[in-house]
Amino acid sequence: MTNDADMLEALVNTGILLSSEHSIDVLLEQTLKTARSLFGAEGASLYLADSGMLHFRIFSNPVLEDKLGPEGVRKAYKARPVKIGPGSISGYTAYAGESTIVTDAYNIPGDAPYSFNTSFDKSSGYKTVNLATVPMKTRKGKVVGVLQLVNLQGLDSFSDTAMRAMEAFGAQVAVAVENATLTEELKKAQYETITRLAAAAELKDPDTGDHLRRMSEYSRDIADACGLDEHTVELIYYASPLHDVGKIAIPDDILLKPGPLDDDEWEVMRTHTVIGADILRNPHSELAAYARDIALCHHERIDGKGYPSEIKGDDIPFAARVVSVADVFDALTSRRPYKEPFPAAKAIEIINEGAAKGQFDPEIVKAFLGIAGS
Ligand SMILES: [Fe+2]
Ligand SMILES: [Fe+2]
Repeated sequence: MTNDADMLEALVNTGILLSSEHSIDVLLEQTLKTARSLFGAEGASLYLADSGMLHFRIFSNPVLEDKLGPEGVRKAYKARPVKIGPGSISGYTAYAGESTIVTDAYNIPGDAPYSFNTSFDKSSGYKTVNLATVPMKTRKGKVVGVLQLVNLQGLDSFSDTAMRAMEAFGAQVAVAVENATLTEELKKAQYETITRLAAAAELKDPDTGDHLRRMSEYSRDIADACGLDEHTVELIYYASPLHDVGKIAIPDDILLKPGPLDDDEWEVMRTHTVIGADILRNPHSELAAYARDIALCHHERIDGKGYPSEIKGDDIPFAARVVSVADVFDALTSRRPYKEPFPAAKAIEIINEGAAKGQFDPEIVKAFLGIAGS
């Protein structure tokens, strides 16, 4: 067990980490590691509450992992969802909303509202000595899960401070889980809104929804292969489906013309870029700003021979350069009224030629080839 000052410091640091880290998996993993070292525990596991049950989410226990392997541990835990209520230690903790300290797992008094289930130890060969189970309680007092620490050093002589620190820790994790869940839901809602809006722009084309989904996934993977940070990769993923949103204003007789367009018609068709940018003008979010750049510049070429502005090289926003590769690749490999789909290898060859001829950014195409080849 660390001393009180260290503990306070670790708690503060955890608070900072939890409030800045929005990916729930990274967050929980870090949390368990911190909990183990902070409270001198051999292992830690975390369960989230859902419809009256506790579901295993994540663990950190090197000793157990040595015995069963990471997959083995996960399977062993996963097979055991726990009912919230008296009976089991974790179920009771979530039900009562207060910590449960068990200093000798194999000698729990008969009148306790819970008992220790030995089957896990029996099947895994692990030896549970003691357990501290803490409810993850939000500010409103809602229990969103429990954090269970196992085989803690000196648990029988835990100070009040240590106990309070443990509960504070549980509360911090609860708030972070709540926020992360909310953020994830918001993101999903945002993505759905965007793709629906984008699909509305091309409603007449039944293939469009699939095209948007695929091209946004390619855009994300290419951006990732280019080494962009996770946040930027995500922005490109969410913004890319809006690349052709300006087509909403292109008259049907041009947009849906089965044959090739004449010069005048092409001129109208090309305006979908500036119209898209106009729809997305004065963005209030980073996401909308990315979408505007992409809508405006996804037909620019690296050699300056694209449209609408004939800008070149680095003057073209990076996201738009990524999206142009993804968009063309998907168009090539898809069936269109006027053409059969190209096989992937042929499409990759065309993209490669496009880079050589100044259509695409060669660095981005290189990253694309790295993932397309695999
Ligand atoms: Fe376009
Ligand atoms: Fe497209």
